[in-house]
Order: sequence, then structure tokens, then C-alpha cells
Amino acid sequence: MLIIKSLKSLAEIYVALDFEDKQQALSFLQNNNLAGIPVKTGMELFYREGPRIIHDLKEKGHPVFLDLKLHDIPQTVKRAMKNLASLGVDVVNVHASGGKEMIQAAREGLREGSINENSRPVLLAVTQLTSTDQNMLTNELLIPHSVKENVAHLAELSRAGGADGVVCSVEETKIVKQVCGSEFLTLTPGIRQQNETNHDQKRVASPHKAGGEGTDAIVVGRSITQAQSPETTYKQIREEFLNGQQ
Ligand code: C5P
Repeated sequence: MLIIKSLKSLAEIYVALDFEDKQQALSFLQNNNLAGIPVKTGMELFYREGPRIIHDLKEKGHPVFLDLKLHDIPQTVKRAMKNLASLGVDVVNVHASGGKEMIQAAREGLREGSINENSRPVLLAVTQLTSTDQNMLTNELLIPHSVKENVAHLAELSRAGGADGVVCSVEETKIVKQVCGSEFLTLTPGIRQQNETNHDQKRVASPHKAGGEGTDAIVVGRSITQAQSPETTYKQIREEFLNGQQ
């Protein structure tokens, strides 16, 4: 198998800014001494605030992962990605289940919206959401494979379509790296510290385990945004993740 080395990389930890509006998101960062940290903006914030939230975060020096999980016909995704690339975001994503042609189109759109390949945003493909478990895969989606097999298959498809990496759970990081090569990026949400509630997440793991399994980056939302001291928790989680990598 020919593995193309990706020149792209990710930050270690992205804090999910799942807030209602821009004011709440920016106040959270400012009040908790989190200036300039890598952040993830999802649908909730982006659909309310539009491109200006990206502009404001970039102006304050935050690397931005714009998590909109595009999934549509290839031409639509290509044009949408061209627009997203022109916002200057660092990372974007699609649903891998949109297929190889759609992923290729996403990559082309990103390239067209960027000055050059170096400045093109990292393209990730979401395999199975971390809120999906085996029961849902089998009984709701009627996919006759294990979560691991399905994620490995979607990761191969994503790599073939030109994605730089995938979003998966910590449980699948190793198999993705085996199938797609160690340079193929993995980013994992569903991170929880010990004794914490899982909320709506099903495939969860600790920051330490994430590091040990070799994931390139983690996304952490409520564990930090709803913590008593977000700054301390951010530092703890980052340290735990990096210690796990050793
Ligand atoms: O609060 P919590 O840490 O569960 O937040 C995880 C974040 O990662 C959310 O913003 C969610 O939309 C996102 N995400 C996810 N699972 C994926 C992809 C993104 O939980 N597969």
C-alpha cells in the first residue's frame, strides 16, 4: 500500500466552544486566561454568528477547527469548502459516509479557496460519531460490522479520498493508524476524566489513554467549559494527554 506522507499537523488539544453566542465564547476564553489556545467552533456557534466568529477568534490568535461536518453531493461540498477555506480556518471536516468522491471534492474546494497547498486547512473526515455505539450501528443504521471494522473501513476510504486524517474514538485510533499509516492524523473527542459523567457520549476515554493509544489530538468540551476552574482543568487534561504519549 502506498502511503502518502501528510505534511499537515494538528494542535494537541482543541477546546470545544459549544456556547450559545459569541459573547459567551469570547468571555469564557478571556475570563479563564485561555488566550490563544486552539479552539473548536461547531454548528451551534457558527450558525448563530457566521464568519465573524472565525474572524474574531483568528484575530485573537486562536488556531480554529471549524467543525461543521459537511455531508452533501460532491459539487455542493466543494463550493462550500472553498468558502470555508477563504475564512482562514485551520481545520475543517466532512462525514466520511458521504463517500470518496465527496471527500475528493472537499479537498479540491479547500485547495481552490487557499493561496497554496501549505495554507490549505487540514481536512478530517468523521468516521462514526463518539455518541454512536454498537447497538445503534447494528439496530438503527443496519451496518453489519463492528464499530471498529466500520471505522477502519471509513478511515481507508477517507485516506483514498485525500483526507489528512479522521475523527474517531480513542478505541479505534490504533486500527486507523495500522490501516492508514502513522502519518494519517487521528483526532478524538469523547474525552472524560475519571468519575466524570459521559453526557451524550458513548465511546469515551481518559486523556491519558488517548495519549497512550497514539491519537494526534483530542477535542474536549464540557469537561473544561463546565469545570469549576476551566484553566486548571485545561492544563491538567493537556498534561495527562502528553504524559500518556510518553
Ligand atoms: O463536551 P464534549 O467533550 O463531549 O464535546 C465534544 C465535542 O466534539 C462536541 O463539540 C461534539 O460536537 C464534537 N464531536 C464529537 N464526536 C465526533 C465529532 C465531533 O463529540 N465524532
